[in-house]
Amino acid sequence: MIEAANRLQTVEEYYFSKKLREVNLLIASGKPVINLGIGSPDMQPPKKVLSAISASFENPIAHKYQSYQGLPELRDAISRFYKAHFSVNLSPSTEILPLMGSKEGIMHISMAYLNEGDEVLIPNPGYPTYQSVTKLVGAKGVLYELDEGNNWMPDFRALEKLDLSKVKLMWVNYPHMPTGAKPSKIVFEELVAFGKRHNILIVNDNPYSFILNDSPKSILSVEGAKDVCLELNSLSKTFNMAGWRVGMVMGASAHINNILKVKSNMDSGMFYGIQKGAIEALKCSNMWFATLNNVYQERRNLVWQLADALNCTYDKDASGLFVWAKLPAYLKSEEFIDLVLKENHIFITPGTIFGTKGEGYIRFSLCASTEVLEEAIARVK
Ligand SMILES: Cc1ncc(COP(=O)(O)O)c(C=O)c1O
Repeated sequence: MIEAANRLQTVEEYYFSKKLREVNLLIASGKPVINLGIGSPDMQPPKKVLSAISASFENPIAHKYQSYQGLPELRDAISRFYKAHFSVNLSPSTEILPLMGSKEGIMHISMAYLNEGDEVLIPNPGYPTYQSVTKLVGAKGVLYELDEGNNWMPDFRALEKLDLSKVKLMWVNYPHMPTGAKPSKIVFEELVAFGKRHNILIVNDNPYSFILNDSPKSILSVEGAKDVCLELNSLSKTFNMAGWRVGMVMGASAHINNILKVKSNMDSGMFYGIQKGAIEALKCSNMWFATLNNVYQERRNLVWQLADALNCTYDKDASGLFVWAKLPAYLKSEEFIDLVLKENHIFITPGTIFGTKGEGYIRFSLCASTEVLEEAIARVK
């Protein structure tokens, strides 16, 4: 038997990869399972995006290797998008690197900055990939706790008390997944100051800023942020293009060059047609966001009813693609979701997959039609 590398012993198969096998077995045995687990947008991308990709097939250059840095037009479109929506100025030639999704960026940034033994601040609760990638590169995750009482924002007093001497990188993710908490400008300013004080690279993972959020913000809008910050963004949720794999990392050119060193050794440029589609998406007017959010708002109202029927509470001011709901006291997340799966054939994500601070919470996805959500409510009632 050829043994896998030691690093594989540091991580487990992704929760959804395992749990969805169980859900699929239930479906195969005839159980009509409603999946409110994963946040995979079920609506279509803008029409002009689809036209751009199909038109690209006729272009002979479409099938060739593409630039590692993406088409200049794509970087231009990203720069204009950041200016229009976040008031952030970015040089298309030096401060933007298109990626195949922001998840890819988490690995590239970690490879570019972390040595074995370096420490990384990771939010609890938070996106599990920050922790698994940190382990895969041989660095050490140091969890920082987020509390509902502090609107899921970092507790800077607690952070200052930590031994930060080995901390090189901090993952932040505002608007926050899974809680939907929205950042204030002050929190971003505090994060930038914290990064500067301790020479820590702060990376804001920002793929949810346009979902049910009236005021999208970028950490790069803080003065001087580029000295110590990077931002990841993605077209997955904003334009219903999760399967297309388009993301981007933005920041100072020195950082972008370091990430490019990793990326150019790992993959080749993104398919031409996808880049052309992405350019069209980034040019969408505010009508696109309004239409998308009307649908999510309607769905969220139904998910709130479902959460009520399950005796959960939630924050009506939260944003994003999910409803993060608190269970009645003493109920455990995984036991609760297993029960609802068994009794009602509805799959909901347990808060614990996002860390220990997710215990007592569950996460509903808004990626299901109103008909499906009405059926879920009927089953629970
Ligand atoms: C917090 C967070 N970051 C990044 C990603 C990855 O998104 P992408 O499709 O851009 O790789 C997700 C996807 O679920 C996410 O929830």
